[in-house]
Amino acid sequence: MKRDALHEDPSNIGFPENRPKRVSFATQKFKEIFGNTPTFVASAPGRVNLIGEHTDYNDGYVFPVAIDKYLNIAARKRSDGRVRLHALDVNDSYEFCLDTLPSIHQDTPAWSHYLFGVASLLQTSGKKVSGIDAVITGDVPIGAGLSSSAALSVSTALTFLTASSASRTSESASQSEINNKELAALCQRVEHEFVGVNCGIMDQTISLLGRENQALFLDCRSLEHKHVPLNLAAHYIAICNTKVKRELAASEYNKRRAECERGVAILQQWLPDISSLRDITLTDFKKHEEELPALTQKRCRYVIEENTRVLDAVAVLKTRHLQTSEETEESLIQFGRLMNASHNGLRDDYEVSCSELDLLTDIARNITGVIGSRMTGAGFGGCTVNIVHRDVLETFQTLVKAEYHKHTGIEPEIYLCNVSDGAQVFWNSDF
Ligand code: GLA
Repeated sequence: MKRDALHEDPSNIGFPENRPKRVSFATQKFKEIFGNTPTFVASAPGRVNLIGEHTDYNDGYVFPVAIDKYLNIAARKRSDGRVRLHALDVNDSYEFCLDTLPSIHQDTPAWSHYLFGVASLLQTSGKKVSGIDAVITGDVPIGAGLSSSAALSVSTALTFLTASSASRTSESASQSEINNKELAALCQRVEHEFVGVNCGIMDQTISLLGRENQALFLDCRSLEHKHVPLNLAAHYIAICNTKVKRELAASEYNKRRAECERGVAILQQWLPDISSLRDITLTDFKKHEEELPALTQKRCRYVIEENTRVLDAVAVLKTRHLQTSEETEESLIQFGRLMNASHNGLRDDYEVSCSELDLLTDIARNITGVIGSRMTGAGFGGCTVNIVHRDVLETFQTLVKAEYHKHTGIEPEIYLCNVSDGAQVFWNSDF
């Protein structure tokens, strides 16, 4: 990172804005590939979840932020119903026709499933969808637990909706045709129906609703949400990528979801009013936990405790502006403790961590100035999220890289991120 950023006023800490550069890169590539100028670029960010993991599909609470890593789609409308796509980062092209949408089979590249999945669901929900030429490119690391796939489905949905509304003057019409709640749900269905992951609603929602320097406190049952100012004082969010990804991630994810549902079904015999783990207090759970098979018991306990941790973490951040600087430091420390406890639960009870994620959190927690460290996202590889004091940021990067490499032979990647705005459309005239 730039040395200057370390010495700026803590309230202004951050890194140079990455989005305009990425948008003009996508535009340039479109010109090279299709020989003319795109009309717009639809841009959707990845996310990092600060706390509240595997709670979204249990109707619980989450607390993610959008990060300044984006999936950008530079596009131009076509009038013949054809969709011509070039995925720059995997150097692959694919073409289909909106009248005869492809189905998922071995010959359709995995990345294209998101695109024809979105097109298909928009069409079946009665939305007008037109053909496009598009170049897809991004810097959200793929398969690293930072929601590259939600960024792809959200930017795709915005691309089709914007292309169909044709001109900038009808921008508001296209946005009002479908609200963010519906859009998030549609993108979630793409994962369920075209990708085979029974994910929750967190990733799509934060990619749409992210706000600069604010975290999103989201109730995944009602979808009510609050943006909470993320005043971390002199601390940064540092994301460490294990660079490992387990093959079984999708099937284990679906298994966890099924285990939670099984737990609810059993507990309903004693607690008939519950419909998800979100409805159970820890006290009630303890009265009946012995009725559950051992594994189900561990899974349910983790989710119930994690929901409480999210509420505590949000409360800690919300009251910070009322505090003296010593109290402020203490509440950040509490926030970090909750993050650490979240990781421990994911490792021991929910069993979605892995040795590389545990190693990264162990290394981080041993560095003075690191307030909290936990895995983020679905797990089984991917990334950790760390809250790191600016004074130790360089030490943190050096130590994490050296220690992780020493034990695994892998060079980890470390991303120091700004907390960013959610999905946006940039019109040609703004480039
Ligand atoms: C993935 C899913 C989300 C959520 C997280 C775990 O990112 O897409 O819906 O369940 O895992 O918190």
